[in-house]
Amino acid sequence: MSLSKVQKTEAKYLLHTYDRYPVLFTHAKGATLYAEDGSKYLDFLSGIGVMALGYSHPEITKTIREQSAKLVHVSNLFYTEFPGLLAEKLVKLSGLDRAFFANSGTEAWEGALKLARAVASGKGLKKRTKFLAMENSFHGRTFGSMATTFTAKYRKPFAPVMPGVEFVKFNDVEDLKAKFDDTVCGVCIETVQGEGGIHPATREFLKAARELTAKSGALLLLDEIQCGLGRTGKMFAFQHYAVKPDVVTLAKPLAAGLPLGAILVTEEVAAAIHPGMHGTTFGGGPLACAVALKVLDVMQKDKILQHVKETGAYFMDLLGELDARHASIVDVRGVGLMVGVELDDAELAKAVQKAMLDEKIIINRTHETVLRFLPPYVVTKKDVERVVKTLDRILTSCASSGDAAAKPAAGPRQRLPKATASTAR
Ligand SMILES: Cc1ncc(COP(=O)(O)O)c(C=O)c1O
Repeated sequence: MSLSKVQKTEAKYLLHTYDRYPVLFTHAKGATLYAEDGSKYLDFLSGIGVMALGYSHPEITKTIREQSAKLVHVSNLFYTEFPGLLAEKLVKLSGLDRAFFANSGTEAWEGALKLARAVASGKGLKKRTKFLAMENSFHGRTFGSMATTFTAKYRKPFAPVMPGVEFVKFNDVEDLKAKFDDTVCGVCIETVQGEGGIHPATREFLKAARELTAKSGALLLLDEIQCGLGRTGKMFAFQHYAVKPDVVTLAKPLAAGLPLGAILVTEEVAAAIHPGMHGTTFGGGPLACAVALKVLDVMQKDKILQHVKETGAYFMDLLGELDARHASIVDVRGVGLMVGVELDDAELAKAVQKAMLDEKIIINRTHETVLRFLPPYVVTKKDVERVVKTLDRILTSCASSGDAAAKPAAGPRQRLPKATASTAR
């Protein structure tokens, strides 16, 4: 089917929730997406952080083929062999104790919020219902997730959202301390904020959140839906810190593009849940769980974390050189292959993203001014060089066409700390 025909059908029949780019993809391999018109694109977004092992990975394809021929779904009323094995693997990798499987990031996060309330009510602490969430956070689109998501445009049209959420300035220990009291059941943090513009939590902030929650019996909930499962060069982003959460949520790369989310919890949190309190029809099905097991297998066997660390560090080095030369770059932040380049103007960021797409490179723009890069973990240094060279050329051409001011010659600029793995320590 042609792009124009697809566009016409969607315009007539789909809810208009997405402004799609005018590209119709038909198939993909590794980090390359192929469009219906024969053109090919280098993907530095991986379906918004999902296709970590790249597209059409032979072992993933084989697992999908074999498992789908055997058993796709049977409901959570019965046993299948995979959810227990997947939980065991995630528990061993994370140091937490138990898992629950959902179908998406937002559903995992909803479950995490419910657990925090259940733990408090299980202890008879009826007043303890408040969540402290972070400014610039994003946790999803369902009601609890929306309520803990900072950006007003996601919440306002659907008000009133879930009550009992207060926002804290991200990485501001004093603000956290000032707002923390004995009504708090959970502190909600993305270990590295994604939609908010690629901002890692500071070491001091996570430590303070851990100490406050541990002292009061509230939970520390880490949302690693975007930054978890190898994206930062460690299996879990919190492993860059000397902090262990009570709850961590996962999703995007877990099942290589099949919908699967997970909540990992400590034994103490798990004790608050009994049969019938929480559940889902599709979550933890045999197909998605078999694929997720294979994803984790391949990541370990192919030493993917090491590759993410090295390729991410190379990417950051090259972007650092660009930063020194382009006035329009305000900051370069990144941990592993979760990278943001903040520009000084939203229109410029939009134009750069479009120009990259015209050059057949897929990136994303978030928080208005931040170019976001979430490539498949399997990208090569050569891929990175192509992306940086193209970005360099586009920024230069924008500057010469008057879209960006010249870089001030003197004085170090005010910058956020470079968020390499070393600053996330
Ligand atoms: C940190 C974080 N939490 C939650 C979500 C929601 O996940 P989903 O879109 O799978 O519901 C996202 C999605 O971008 C995310 O980045």
